[in-house]
Amino acid sequence: MIWPSLYTRLAVWLTCILMLVGLLYVTLISHIQKQDARTVDQQLNRNLAASLVAERNLIEENRLNEAALKRAFMYFMNINPSIEIYLLDVEGRILSYSADPGKVKRKRVSLGPIRTFLKGGEFPILGDDPRDPSAQKVFSVTPIPNASQPEGYLYVILRGEQFDSVEMMARDKQRLSLGLWVVAISLGAGLLVGLAGMYLITRRLTRLSRSVRSFRANDFSYSVPLVVEQNRRDEIGQLSEAFEEMSKRIQDQLQQLQAQDEKRRELIANVSHDLRTPLAAMHSYLETLSIKEKDLTPAERLEYLQQALKNSHRLLQLVEELFELARLDNLDQLPDMEPFSIRELAHDVVQQYQHLAERKHIHLQIVTQGDDMLVRGHIGLLQRVLENLIANAIRYTDRGEVTIRLSSHADRVEVSVEDTGRGIEEAAIPHIFDRFYRADNAHRGEGRHSGLGLAIVKRILDLHDVPIHVSSRIDAGSTFRFFLGCAVQ
Ligand SMILES: Nc1ncnc2c1ncn2[C@@H]1O[C@H](COP(=O)(O)OP(=O)(O)O)[C@@H](O)[C@H]1O
Ligand SMILES: [Mg+2]
Repeated sequence: MIWPSLYTRLAVWLTCILMLVGLLYVTLISHIQKQDARTVDQQLNRNLAASLVAERNLIEENRLNEAALKRAFMYFMNINPSIEIYLLDVEGRILSYSADPGKVKRKRVSLGPIRTFLKGGEFPILGDDPRDPSAQKVFSVTPIPNASQPEGYLYVILRGEQFDSVEMMARDKQRLSLGLWVVAISLGAGLLVGLAGMYLITRRLTRLSRSVRSFRANDFSYSVPLVVEQNRRDEIGQLSEAFEEMSKRIQDQLQQLQAQDEKRRELIANVSHDLRTPLAAMHSYLETLSIKEKDLTPAERLEYLQQALKNSHRLLQLVEELFELARLDNLDQLPDMEPFSIRELAHDVVQQYQHLAERKHIHLQIVTQGDDMLVRGHIGLLQRVLENLIANAIRYTDRGEVTIRLSSHADRVEVSVEDTGRGIEEAAIPHIFDRFYRADNAHRGEGRHSGLGLAIVKRILDLHDVPIHVSSRIDAGSTFRFFLGCAVQ
């Protein structure tokens, strides 16, 4: 089902409300006009009953002239039926009247309105209509035979619709239609202004919803130009701003997800490639051994076995490094940070690599500045950091020096691993911490390395909340530098 637009619904509502208001207006006006007509009627004819008594000589010598009353009844019944005359006793009972007997439905009329009238109350005063038990009408009344000793009343009902002069009717009609025109025009103008205002307001909403729709239609990925009115701080402005922010965030996250996905795929491709090479080599050596076992000399057999072993060693190393990275990735924070001497740790690691350095004619040394201070960190993981950095320094240096420099500052110790080796190209520096990244200076083929060493270093230092800085010059050497916080003693 298609919903009518917000604007249509609002417009229908407004029209209905205005029509209702118009109806109320018209009812009210016609009611007031009726009331007006009655007031005028009663005002004009307030002395009608009294003058009737005087003109028609209904009282003679302080007594009611019955014959004259009969004549008056006849006259008004037949010749001028615009008024109805009733003779009441002091209790309000109807004694006689100028009408067909069947038409009079009440036996008495209430005295309350009559008394109000005689006291000079405010018009219109409505009295009981003898012809209709449920209706009330304006009237004129006078006590009979006189006000000082009333024995009854002459009660005259002013029959509005017949009594109204043609002129008055016409005037009323004119007033009524004028009133209706005024109401119609003002309501019409109100409707137009209201519709225009609503259009202006809903137009912005419509624009916003169009943007949201096209954002959705574009799979939430395409940046939709939003019309956010910066200077409009109302709800719609806030809504569009929030939506814009939300769409940007969704886009960012989608891009992040895509980038992550790409990285993951690249990683898998790298892993499989790096696993396959040593595995294939190992397989072929072992295969040759098993097929040609009889034809091989013992020396050849030993050589093939050693090659297979070397490849299996590389495989093992790679798998271990991958496993280590996976374990580090799963860690949100370090389990056991403890105070330890970074000097002692550096000495241990240097000792481990001394033999290798000597073989490559590299002078491996530790230089310390300042007091020996305890640092806080995970000793086992920081050992891996030093091992990887020193191993790289030795690997990418042919003859020369590798220096581990430890300098104590106020509340931290600066650790740097410097070499005088090949150096790293400037363009490669931002990538060396990426998984499986190997710069051009690394020997391919023989003695291949995984390109995971620095990724492990980076991850461990990240876990310590410590950044690592690299500076390097081609054929001059490289320096890796980071700071460790001192343990509070
Ligand atoms: N001390 C260094 N001197 C020159 N290049 C280096 C040094 N350390 C790292 N690199 C470069 O950074 C790359 C990434 O290092 P790493 O992650 O340890 O991988 P790997 O040592 O297995 O090649 C290396 O391939 C090398 O090109
Ligand atoms: Mg390495």
